[in-house]
Amino acid sequence: MEKVRLQKFMADAGVASRRKSEEMIATGHVRVNGKTVVEMGVKVDHSDKIEVDGMPLETEKKRYILMYKPRGVISAVTDDKDRKVVTDLLKDDVRERVYPIGRLDYDTSGLLLLTNDGEFANHLMHPRYHVDKSYVAKVEGTLTTDEIRSLEKGIKLTGYTSARSKVTVMSKDKKKHSSIVRIVIHEGHNHQVKNMFDAVGHQVIKLSRERYDFLTLEGLVSGQYRDLSRQEVADLKKEITDRK
Ligand code: URA
Repeated sequence: MEKVRLQKFMADAGVASRRKSEEMIATGHVRVNGKTVVEMGVKVDHSDKIEVDGMPLETEKKRYILMYKPRGVISAVTDDKDRKVVTDLLKDDVRERVYPIGRLDYDTSGLLLLTNDGEFANHLMHPRYHVDKSYVAKVEGTLTTDEIRSLEKGIKLTGYTSARSKVTVMSKDKKKHSSIVRIVIHEGHNHQVKNMFDAVGHQVIKLSRERYDFLTLEGLVSGQYRDLSRQEVADLKKEITDRK
């Protein structure tokens, strides 16, 4: 990591806004490597020991991970029933305390992002930023044109009406009485895709998320993960900023 101004480092670590951090520096609340710093312009990175009012600052490196979540794993960092959680799949190369951005159900597989960057996670999860997520669902039966239309227009569910979506029937298996359907949504309500198909009378048999904005699972098999590239992180951040 490149060294950045102390006030930016503090703001990124969630201490306070950049301006407020400047005030804290100027009024003698901040120490860098044991010395109180009151002037602006000091640059730091994760190797520096920073204290605010004597409390060491969390200086964890920011991590952005794309995981191919398998079925049968909880999208969380702990589980009260002691089931396997997604962070159990991370090896020693990820020591930072990352957590999932949003959720995939226990029995849903596919693309899941994990990070320790709170601001980034909150932005991506906010429906206002319209991050498209594409799912492939195996559903019972075959959808009529009217059912597709009402899914795409927005359908009344418990407590909300879903926003516009895009539905594409990829294949139908008349013998097995099921179809494979792609659906693209930008919201993230609990069990939303399953509830949407339920609402038109087609229970989801199997569900996988194949795309998150421009990110795909390419190159990964179930259970594997990779770091996002700097460019991918920058592109996601830029999209969020552009949509503000
Ligand atoms: N919608 C669902 O119903 N389940 C998921 O895991 C994700 C979206």
